[in-house]
Amino acid sequence: MIAARGSTGHAVAPSAEPNASARRHVLDLDDFTEAEIESVLQNTDVMREVLRRDIKKVPTLRGKSIITLFYEASTRTRVSFEQAGKILSADVINVSSGGSSVEKGESLYNTALTIQAMNADIIVVRHPHAGAPHFMARFLDSCIINGGDGAHAHPTQALLDLYTMKSHLGHIRGARVVIVGDLLYSRVARSNLWGLVKMGAEVVLCAPPTLVPPDFLDGYRSRPGHPFASVRIETSVEKALEGADVVMALRLQLERQQGGHLPTLREYSRMYSITPDRLKLAKPGVLVMHPGPMNEGIEIDPEVAHGARSVIEEQVTNGVAVRMAVFYAATTPNREP
Ligand code: CP
Repeated sequence: MIAARGSTGHAVAPSAEPNASARRHVLDLDDFTEAEIESVLQNTDVMREVLRRDIKKVPTLRGKSIITLFYEASTRTRVSFEQAGKILSADVINVSSGGSSVEKGESLYNTALTIQAMNADIIVVRHPHAGAPHFMARFLDSCIINGGDGAHAHPTQALLDLYTMKSHLGHIRGARVVIVGDLLYSRVARSNLWGLVKMGAEVVLCAPPTLVPPDFLDGYRSRPGHPFASVRIETSVEKALEGADVVMALRLQLERQQGGHLPTLREYSRMYSITPDRLKLAKPGVLVMHPGPMNEGIEIDPEVAHGARSVIEEQVTNGVAVRMAVFYAATTPNREP
Protein backbone atom coordinates (compact mmCIF):
# COMPACT_ATOMS: atom_id res chain seq x y z
CA MET A 1 0.00 0.00 0.00
CA ILE A 2 1.25 3.49 -0.79
CA ALA A 3 2.22 5.51 2.27
CA ALA A 4 -0.76 7.79 2.55
CA ARG A 5 0.45 10.86 4.46
CA GLY A 6 1.26 14.10 2.71
CA SER A 7 3.96 16.61 3.53
CA THR A 8 1.38 18.37 5.67
CA GLY A 9 0.77 15.21 7.66
CA HIS A 10 -2.81 15.06 6.40
CA ALA A 11 -4.01 11.89 4.82
CA VAL A 12 -3.46 11.99 1.09
CA ALA A 13 -4.89 8.62 0.27
CA PRO A 14 -5.45 8.42 -3.46
CA SER A 15 -8.92 7.42 -4.61
CA ALA A 16 -7.56 3.93 -5.20
CA GLU A 17 -4.46 2.37 -3.74
CA PRO A 18 -1.69 1.22 -6.02
CA ASN A 19 -1.21 -2.49 -6.43
CA ALA A 20 1.93 -3.76 -4.77
CA SER A 21 4.27 -5.57 -7.10
CA ALA A 22 8.00 -6.04 -6.90
CA ARG A 23 10.24 -5.53 -9.90
CA ARG A 24 13.97 -5.35 -9.43
CA HIS A 25 15.01 -3.74 -12.70
CA VAL A 26 13.16 -2.05 -15.56
CA LEU A 27 15.32 -2.69 -18.62
CA ASP A 28 12.72 -3.19 -21.36
CA LEU A 29 9.13 -4.40 -21.69
CA ASP A 30 10.11 -7.75 -23.21
CA ASP A 31 10.17 -9.32 -19.74
CA PHE A 32 6.96 -7.64 -18.52
CA THR A 33 3.79 -9.71 -18.42
CA GLU A 34 0.50 -8.22 -19.55
CA ALA A 35 -0.58 -8.24 -15.89
CA GLU A 36 2.53 -6.30 -14.84
CA ILE A 37 1.95 -3.67 -17.51
CA GLU A 38 -1.69 -3.45 -16.46
CA SER A 39 -0.61 -3.00 -12.84
CA VAL A 40 1.73 -0.11 -13.77
CA LEU A 41 -1.07 1.53 -15.78
CA GLN A 42 -3.50 1.19 -12.85
CA ASN A 43 -0.94 2.63 -10.46
CA THR A 44 -0.34 5.48 -12.92
CA ASP A 45 -4.01 6.40 -12.50
CA VAL A 46 -3.36 6.77 -8.77
CA MET A 47 -0.25 8.86 -9.41
CA ARG A 48 -2.14 11.10 -11.88
CA GLU A 49 -4.53 11.85 -9.07
CA VAL A 50 -1.59 12.90 -6.86
CA LEU A 51 -0.39 15.22 -9.66
CA ARG A 52 -3.78 16.97 -9.72
CA ARG A 53 -3.52 18.01 -6.05
CA ASP A 54 -2.47 21.45 -4.86
CA ILE A 55 0.26 19.87 -2.76
CA LYS A 56 1.99 17.36 -4.98
CA LYS A 57 3.95 15.47 -2.38
CA VAL A 58 3.51 12.04 -0.80
CA PRO A 59 5.99 10.27 1.47
CA THR A 60 6.05 6.96 -0.40
CA LEU A 61 9.80 6.96 -1.08
CA ARG A 62 10.95 8.97 1.94
CA GLY A 63 14.46 7.86 2.86
CA LYS A 64 15.15 6.37 -0.60
CA SER A 65 17.78 7.81 -2.87
CA ILE A 66 17.57 7.95 -6.64
CA ILE A 67 20.47 8.89 -8.90
CA THR A 68 19.84 9.68 -12.55
CA LEU A 69 22.91 9.07 -14.71
CA PHE A 70 22.60 10.55 -18.18
CA TYR A 71 25.26 9.98 -20.84
CA GLU A 72 22.99 11.49 -23.52
CA ALA A 73 20.93 14.65 -23.79
CA SER A 74 17.38 14.55 -22.46
CA THR A 75 14.66 16.95 -21.42
CA ARG A 76 11.47 14.92 -20.89
CA THR A 77 12.94 11.72 -19.44
CA ARG A 78 15.46 13.27 -17.08
CA VAL A 79 13.16 15.98 -15.74
CA SER A 80 10.18 13.66 -15.32
CA PHE A 81 12.21 11.05 -13.45
CA GLU A 82 13.50 13.81 -11.18
CA GLN A 83 10.02 15.24 -10.66
CA ALA A 84 8.56 11.78 -10.05
CA GLY A 85 11.17 11.01 -7.39
CA LYS A 86 10.71 14.34 -5.66
CA ILE A 87 6.91 14.08 -5.56
CA LEU A 88 7.35 10.67 -3.90
CA SER A 89 9.76 12.32 -1.37
CA ALA A 90 12.91 10.49 -2.51
CA ASP A 91 16.26 12.26 -2.53
CA VAL A 92 17.11 12.71 -6.20
CA ILE A 93 20.58 13.50 -7.53
CA ASN A 94 21.20 14.09 -11.22
CA VAL A 95 24.52 13.23 -12.83
CA SER A 96 25.33 14.04 -16.45
CA SER A 97 28.35 12.56 -18.17
CA GLY A 98 29.41 16.09 -19.11
CA GLY A 99 30.96 17.68 -16.04
CA SER A 100 31.44 14.33 -14.28
CA SER A 101 34.54 12.14 -14.06
CA VAL A 102 33.33 10.36 -17.20
CA GLU A 103 35.07 13.27 -18.95
CA LYS A 104 38.33 12.11 -17.32
CA GLY A 105 37.87 8.66 -18.81
CA GLU A 106 36.13 6.84 -15.97
CA SER A 107 34.47 3.67 -17.24
CA LEU A 108 30.76 2.92 -16.97
CA TYR A 109 31.64 0.07 -14.58
CA ASN A 110 33.58 2.32 -12.19
CA THR A 111 31.09 5.16 -12.45
CA ALA A 112 28.27 2.76 -11.60
CA LEU A 113 30.20 1.27 -8.65
CA THR A 114 30.92 4.79 -7.37
CA ILE A 115 27.26 5.74 -7.53
CA GLN A 116 26.19 2.53 -5.83
CA ALA A 117 28.75 3.19 -3.08
CA MET A 118 26.73 6.32 -2.33
CA ASN A 119 23.83 3.98 -1.44
CA ALA A 120 21.55 4.73 -4.37
CA ASP A 121 18.42 2.63 -4.12
CA ILE A 122 17.54 3.30 -7.74
CA ILE A 123 19.78 4.31 -10.64
CA VAL A 124 18.13 5.63 -13.79
CA VAL A 125 20.52 5.43 -16.71
CA ARG A 126 20.47 6.78 -20.24
CA HIS A 127 23.34 5.70 -22.45
CA PRO A 128 24.17 5.87 -26.18
CA HIS A 129 25.15 2.18 -26.21
CA ALA A 130 22.52 -0.54 -26.32
CA GLY A 131 22.83 -2.86 -23.33
CA ALA A 132 24.51 -0.40 -20.94
CA PRO A 133 21.67 -0.64 -18.34
CA HIS A 134 21.65 -4.45 -18.67
CA PHE A 135 25.39 -4.47 -18.01
CA MET A 136 24.90 -2.39 -14.85
CA ALA A 137 22.03 -4.60 -13.70
CA ARG A 138 24.34 -7.62 -13.78
CA PHE A 139 26.66 -6.40 -11.06
CA LEU A 140 24.88 -3.68 -9.05
CA ASP A 141 22.56 -4.17 -6.09
CA SER A 142 20.68 -0.96 -6.88
CA CYS A 143 17.54 -1.17 -8.98
CA ILE A 144 18.40 -0.12 -12.55
CA ILE A 145 15.84 1.69 -14.66
CA ASN A 146 16.59 2.12 -18.34
CA GLY A 147 16.04 5.73 -19.42
CA GLY A 148 16.93 4.86 -23.03
CA ASP A 149 19.89 2.82 -24.33
CA GLY A 150 21.09 3.47 -27.86
CA ALA A 151 18.60 2.27 -30.45
CA HIS A 152 17.52 -0.56 -28.17
CA ALA A 153 14.89 0.25 -25.55
CA HIS A 154 13.04 3.02 -23.73
CA PRO A 155 10.60 1.13 -21.51
CA THR A 156 9.19 4.01 -19.47
CA GLN A 157 8.42 5.93 -22.69
CA ALA A 158 6.47 2.91 -23.93
CA LEU A 159 4.59 2.65 -20.62
CA LEU A 160 3.59 6.31 -20.77
CA ASP A 161 2.51 5.85 -24.38
CA LEU A 162 0.39 2.83 -23.43
CA TYR A 163 -1.13 4.77 -20.56
CA THR A 164 -1.97 7.72 -22.83
CA MET A 165 -3.61 5.43 -25.39
CA LYS A 166 -5.62 3.56 -22.78
CA SER A 167 -6.78 6.73 -21.05
CA HIS A 168 -8.31 7.97 -24.33
CA LEU A 169 -9.45 4.79 -26.04
CA GLY A 170 -10.48 2.92 -22.89
CA HIS A 171 -8.63 -0.15 -24.11
CA ILE A 172 -5.48 -1.17 -25.98
CA ARG A 173 -6.56 -4.63 -27.14
CA GLY A 174 -7.70 -4.43 -30.74
CA ALA A 175 -6.65 -0.77 -31.20
CA ARG A 176 -4.90 -0.11 -34.50
CA VAL A 177 -1.64 1.68 -33.67
CA VAL A 178 0.45 2.98 -36.56
CA ILE A 179 4.08 3.85 -35.84
CA VAL A 180 5.65 5.92 -38.62
CA GLY A 181 9.27 6.91 -39.07
CA ASP A 182 12.78 5.89 -38.18
CA LEU A 183 12.08 2.33 -37.02
CA LEU A 184 15.69 1.30 -37.49
CA TYR A 185 17.11 3.55 -34.79
CA SER A 186 14.09 4.09 -32.57
CA ARG A 187 14.30 2.64 -29.07
CA VAL A 188 10.83 4.08 -28.50
CA ALA A 189 9.39 1.98 -31.34
CA ARG A 190 11.05 -1.20 -30.07
CA SER A 191 9.77 -0.86 -26.51
CA ASN A 192 6.33 0.20 -27.73
CA LEU A 193 6.22 -2.83 -29.94
CA TRP A 194 6.77 -5.15 -27.00
CA GLY A 195 4.19 -3.33 -24.91
CA LEU A 196 1.61 -3.11 -27.67
CA VAL A 197 1.78 -6.76 -28.72
CA LYS A 198 1.61 -7.89 -25.09
CA MET A 199 -1.48 -5.73 -24.60
CA GLY A 200 -3.16 -7.06 -27.76
CA ALA A 201 -2.97 -4.02 -30.06
CA GLU A 202 -2.96 -4.31 -33.84
CA VAL A 203 0.39 -2.78 -34.80
CA VAL A 204 1.33 -1.32 -38.18
CA LEU A 205 4.92 -0.16 -38.67
CA CYS A 206 5.58 2.27 -41.50
CA ALA A 207 8.91 3.51 -42.86
CA PRO A 208 10.95 3.63 -46.04
CA PRO A 209 12.52 0.18 -46.59
CA THR A 210 15.94 1.58 -45.61
CA LEU A 211 14.61 2.45 -42.15
CA VAL A 212 12.89 -0.88 -41.41
CA PRO A 213 15.01 -3.18 -39.19
CA PRO A 214 16.25 -6.16 -41.22
CA ASP A 215 14.62 -8.65 -38.82
CA PHE A 216 11.25 -7.16 -39.80
CA LEU A 217 12.03 -7.14 -43.49
CA ASP A 218 12.96 -10.82 -43.19
CA GLY A 219 9.46 -11.33 -41.93
CA TYR A 220 8.26 -12.19 -38.46
CA ARG A 221 4.89 -12.72 -40.14
CA SER A 222 6.13 -15.98 -41.59
CA ARG A 223 7.02 -17.21 -38.09
CA PRO A 224 3.75 -18.18 -36.39
CA GLY A 225 3.98 -17.95 -32.65
CA HIS A 226 6.61 -15.20 -32.69
CA PRO A 227 5.43 -12.24 -30.56
CA PHE A 228 5.77 -9.94 -33.60
CA ALA A 229 4.12 -12.32 -36.09
CA SER A 230 0.99 -10.17 -36.21
CA VAL A 231 2.85 -6.90 -36.84
CA ARG A 232 2.22 -5.44 -40.30
CA ILE A 233 4.94 -3.55 -42.20
CA GLU A 234 3.89 -0.85 -44.66
CA THR A 235 6.09 1.39 -46.77
CA SER A 236 3.16 3.57 -47.88
CA VAL A 237 2.08 5.97 -45.16
CA GLU A 238 -1.31 6.42 -46.83
CA LYS A 239 -2.03 2.69 -46.63
CA ALA A 240 -0.70 2.48 -43.09
CA LEU A 241 -2.93 5.28 -41.80
CA GLU A 242 -6.19 3.78 -43.03
CA GLY A 243 -8.43 3.12 -40.02
CA ALA A 244 -5.79 4.07 -37.44
CA ASP A 245 -6.87 4.66 -33.85
CA VAL A 246 -3.42 6.01 -32.98
CA VAL A 247 -0.64 7.41 -35.12
CA MET A 248 2.75 7.74 -33.49
CA ALA A 249 5.32 9.74 -35.45
CA LEU A 250 8.98 9.04 -34.70
CA ARG A 251 11.85 11.48 -34.81
CA LEU A 252 14.50 10.83 -37.43
CA GLN A 253 17.46 9.84 -35.25
CA LEU A 254 19.98 11.73 -37.35
CA GLU A 255 22.61 11.47 -34.60
CA ARG A 256 22.53 7.64 -34.89
CA GLN A 257 22.11 7.25 -38.64
CA GLN A 258 25.31 6.33 -40.44
CA GLY A 259 24.13 8.06 -43.65
CA GLY A 260 22.73 6.70 -46.87
CA HIS A 261 19.31 5.84 -45.46
CA LEU A 262 17.43 8.69 -47.09
CA PRO A 263 17.84 10.63 -50.33
CA THR A 264 17.12 13.97 -48.61
CA LEU A 265 15.17 15.17 -45.59
CA ARG A 266 12.85 17.01 -47.96
CA GLU A 267 12.10 13.79 -49.84
CA TYR A 268 11.47 11.96 -46.58
CA SER A 269 9.13 14.68 -45.38
CA ARG A 270 7.23 14.67 -48.70
CA MET A 271 6.70 10.90 -48.47
CA TYR A 272 6.24 10.29 -44.73
CA SER A 273 5.35 13.46 -42.84
CA ILE A 274 2.07 13.26 -40.91
CA THR A 275 0.11 16.09 -42.53
CA PRO A 276 -3.50 17.24 -42.01
CA ASP A 277 -4.50 15.62 -45.32
CA ARG A 278 -2.92 12.28 -44.46
CA LEU A 279 -4.49 12.33 -41.01
CA LYS A 280 -7.94 12.28 -42.67
CA LEU A 281 -7.21 8.67 -43.69
CA ALA A 282 -7.22 7.61 -40.03
CA LYS A 283 -10.32 7.21 -37.84
CA PRO A 284 -12.00 10.56 -37.00
CA GLY A 285 -10.98 10.36 -33.34
CA VAL A 286 -7.38 9.34 -34.04
CA LEU A 287 -4.78 10.17 -31.38
CA VAL A 288 -1.61 11.83 -32.63
CA MET A 289 1.43 10.94 -30.56
CA HIS A 290 5.14 11.70 -30.69
CA PRO A 291 7.71 10.81 -28.02
CA GLY A 292 9.56 14.09 -28.60
CA PRO A 293 11.70 15.93 -29.28
CA MET A 294 9.98 16.68 -32.60
CA ASN A 295 11.50 17.74 -35.88
CA GLU A 296 8.45 19.75 -36.86
CA GLY A 297 8.07 20.01 -40.61
CA ILE A 298 10.03 16.76 -41.15
CA GLU A 299 8.22 13.79 -39.57
CA ILE A 300 5.17 15.80 -38.46
CA ASP A 301 3.43 18.92 -39.71
CA PRO A 302 3.19 21.65 -37.02
CA GLU A 303 -0.56 21.87 -37.64
CA VAL A 304 -0.89 18.19 -36.69
CA ALA A 305 1.62 18.36 -33.84
CA HIS A 306 -0.35 21.15 -32.17
CA GLY A 307 -3.78 20.27 -33.55
CA ALA A 308 -6.97 19.01 -31.95
CA ARG A 309 -6.00 15.32 -32.23
CA SER A 310 -2.57 15.76 -30.63
CA VAL A 311 -1.92 14.31 -27.16
CA ILE A 312 1.80 15.03 -27.28
CA GLU A 313 1.87 17.34 -24.26
CA GLU A 314 -0.36 14.96 -22.34
CA GLN A 315 2.24 12.25 -23.00
CA VAL A 316 4.74 14.42 -21.11
CA THR A 317 2.43 14.84 -18.11
CA ASN A 318 1.67 11.14 -18.11
CA GLY A 319 5.42 10.52 -18.19
CA VAL A 320 5.73 11.91 -14.67
CA ALA A 321 2.89 9.74 -13.35
CA VAL A 322 4.18 6.60 -15.08
CA ARG A 323 7.65 7.13 -13.65
CA MET A 324 6.15 7.55 -10.18
CA ALA A 325 4.37 4.22 -10.70
CA VAL A 326 7.60 2.60 -11.92
CA PHE A 327 9.53 3.87 -8.88
CA TYR A 328 6.76 2.54 -6.67
CA ALA A 329 6.84 -0.89 -8.33
CA ALA A 330 10.63 -1.00 -8.11
CA THR A 331 10.73 -0.33 -4.38
CA THR A 332 7.65 -2.11 -3.08
CA PRO A 333 8.10 -5.63 -1.78
CA ASN A 334 5.78 -8.10 -3.39
CA ARG A 335 3.20 -9.14 -0.85
CA GLU A 336 1.53 -11.56 -3.18
CA PRO A 337 2.20 -15.24 -2.49
N1 CP B 1 11.09 11.04 -25.28
C1 CP B 1 12.32 11.28 -24.81
O1 CP B 1 13.06 10.36 -24.47
O2 CP B 1 12.63 12.61 -24.75
P1 CP B 1 13.99 13.18 -24.12
O3 CP B 1 15.11 12.77 -25.04
O4 CP B 1 13.79 14.68 -24.07
O5 CP B 1 14.16 12.58 -22.76
